[in-house]
Amino acid sequence: MRKMRVAVLISGRGSNMEALVKAAQAPDYPAEIVLVLANKEDATGLEIARALGVRAEAVASKPYGRDREAHERAVDARLREAGVELVCLAGYMRLLTPYLVRRWAGRMLNIHPSLLPAFPGLDTHQRAIEAGVGEHGCTVHLVTEGMDEGPVLGQARVPVLPGDTEDALAARVLAQEHRLYPAMLAEQARKILLSEG
Ligand code: GAR
Repeated sequence: MRKMRVAVLISGRGSNMEALVKAAQAPDYPAEIVLVLANKEDATGLEIARALGVRAEAVASKPYGRDREAHERAVDARLREAGVELVCLAGYMRLLTPYLVRRWAGRMLNIHPSLLPAFPGLDTHQRAIEAGVGEHGCTVHLVTEGMDEGPVLGQARVPVLPGDTEDALAARVLAQEHRLYPAMLAEQARKILLSEG
């Protein structure tokens, strides 16, 4: 079976991107990471991707100011030029406009650090601790126009322990993110490849 051509969009440290790149190095993995794009030139993850031999570039959002769609048009152009077929958002801290979401409908995945629909948005670990929930985790979902709302592809759960700090809980969840995301990308890529016949 051929491999799907995947791009990973990041804004910062890129540890989920790294997990995806490493998983995709396995010969039988159904996807290859052909491009890593960041919306900031200084995203640490860009260097990590390059060190792993992956093409990594920035399409800086700053010059576009408030025109989010204009920035997305530039991002989309890079994705198309690189022959990308599926996009993974991995700590990409931009609210998307309907433009990019529609361009990649059914072909854009996101990882979110909570058990959606609980705790959409930011500061999920602190909010989980404050809410007193016994269980927390992460979700991989398809991206739709509502923020953190698309169909759930999979979740991983962790316990919230007595005396947990935000950092301790975040680290426990992150370890699960690094397992869940490569598994869900593989599943989605296989599904699309099979549907092509
Ligand atoms: C991850 O925990 C990811 O789930 C979260 O940002 C972190 C990025 O870390 N994403 C969101 O909060 C999206 N709203 P990474 O850059 O090391 O992968």
